[in-house]
Amino acid sequence: MNHEAIIICQSLYRGNTQRLAKAMAYTLGCRVVSAEDALKMDLSTYKVVGLGSGIYFTAHHPQLFEVAETLQANQRAFVFSTRGAPMVGTYHRAIKDALKARGAQVIGEFSTKGFDCTGPFILVGGGNIGRPNEKDEQKAMRFVQRILPQYTVDDTATEQGHFVSINANCVACGTCVSVCPLHVFSFEGEQMKPTGELDCIHCGMCQRACPERAIAVRHGFKDAIGIAKRHAKRISL
Ligand SMILES: Cc1cc2nc3c(=O)[nH]c(=O)nc-3n(C[C@H](O)[C@H](O)[C@H](O)COP(=O)(O)O)c2cc1C
Repeated sequence: MNHEAIIICQSLYRGNTQRLAKAMAYTLGCRVVSAEDALKMDLSTYKVVGLGSGIYFTAHHPQLFEVAETLQANQRAFVFSTRGAPMVGTYHRAIKDALKARGAQVIGEFSTKGFDCTGPFILVGGGNIGRPNEKDEQKAMRFVQRILPQYTVDDTATEQGHFVSINANCVACGTCVSVCPLHVFSFEGEQMKPTGELDCIHCGMCQRACPERAIAVRHGFKDAIGIAKRHAKRISL
């Protein structure tokens, strides 16, 4: 778990911004907390704080401003949002100004469209249907990779000749054992090993669940054909 970064997200309308927050947190290996919870925490231990919410009446959620008020001058921050309007325009200005007023360094900002069925959008059954979507989540992940490369891991970097690898971050917590539907992982003594890696179908559930981001999975085109062949006769889990 990355204890140097944290994402604070207020996503009250449809959970649109929470989707981006989770994608970013996955890439950074850090926690996502609500603004309410963040206000009860000591945020001074974090080097980087991400602040995101839907845009509500042209600005971020008011509680994010309260959080911004608690940050210190040596902390770095990034801001993000989802919004109904096609362009982000000046929606981020107020929170950025609040952060700068605290002396925090704003290292980047990200926004994408989110489903909106308020106001005039009710006439057409809502705008930005299906947004944010998977592409938006990937863009959010690339955004944090770009601004904070030091916290991102290459989750395709497997050992030579392997599809599934577990790196030194592993604390053998057993999460991968419980989530993997193909039972790829097992304990060898006190160590976790991808003992059934040939059964891996690259669903990525282990990577998403691993709290230490210790798992790498890589399959090329040929390997994908191999997976299809190995599982061709399978008719149930
Ligand atoms: C009370 C309210 C006010 C909103 N005001 C704006 C606005 O001023 N500009 C805009 O582009 N979208 C506005 N929206 C749309 C939201 O920003 C959009 O749906 C966003 O994706 C919601 O994110 P959430 O699901 O994380 O809360 C508003 C939505 C609500 C519920």
